[in-house]
Amino acid sequence: MTAADELFEVSLLVNGVPRSATVPARRLLSDFLRHDLELTGTHVGCEHGVCGACTVLVDGRPIRSCLQFAVTVDGASVTTVEGCTRADGELGHVQQAFRDCHGLQCGFCTPGFVTTITAYLEENPAPTEEQAREAIAGNLCRCTGYQNIVASVLRAAELRAGAAGEVTPS
Ligand code: FES
Ligand code: FES
Repeated sequence: MTAADELFEVSLLVNGVPRSATVPARRLLSDFLRHDLELTGTHVGCEHGVCGACTVLVDGRPIRSCLQFAVTVDGASVTTVEGCTRADGELGHVQQAFRDCHGLQCGFCTPGFVTTITAYLEENPAPTEEQAREAIAGNLCRCTGYQNIVASVLRAAELRAGAAGEVTPS
């Protein structure tokens, strides 16, 4: 058996659920999520860190899962597009905004945008249109022309602010 064949147990929290699998050292995080954990919401486009389709959040920070080995995130908390929902399982603010603003066409790029924007709004909850454009500058979309995605960022910020102002009935 060569070093490349050696297997490692990787355990992490994925969308709040403890998950683990035994994988080779060079298993990409994107393949780990899609093939080992069967979370196929994370899409793989370029496999070179360029398109952003594979973006997931690791401890809240967006990373390109096609550039990361699964073993390097052992013990981390990972959020994929499947985890960008509300606590009650309804669409999260960013997902709802994409629906409201027709922010997707084929949808291949969408998981990467949703995770990227989710993390961005944590940092900047009330972006200007220019900031919204900058926020998505690292993600590629071949269909939409980006206008509706920028609108989705602004709409997600509105929805998020509205939810923050909601009074929970006692
Ligand atoms: S598939 Fe990872 S950046 Fe394109
Ligand atoms: S909606 Fe098709 S690539 Fe973005």
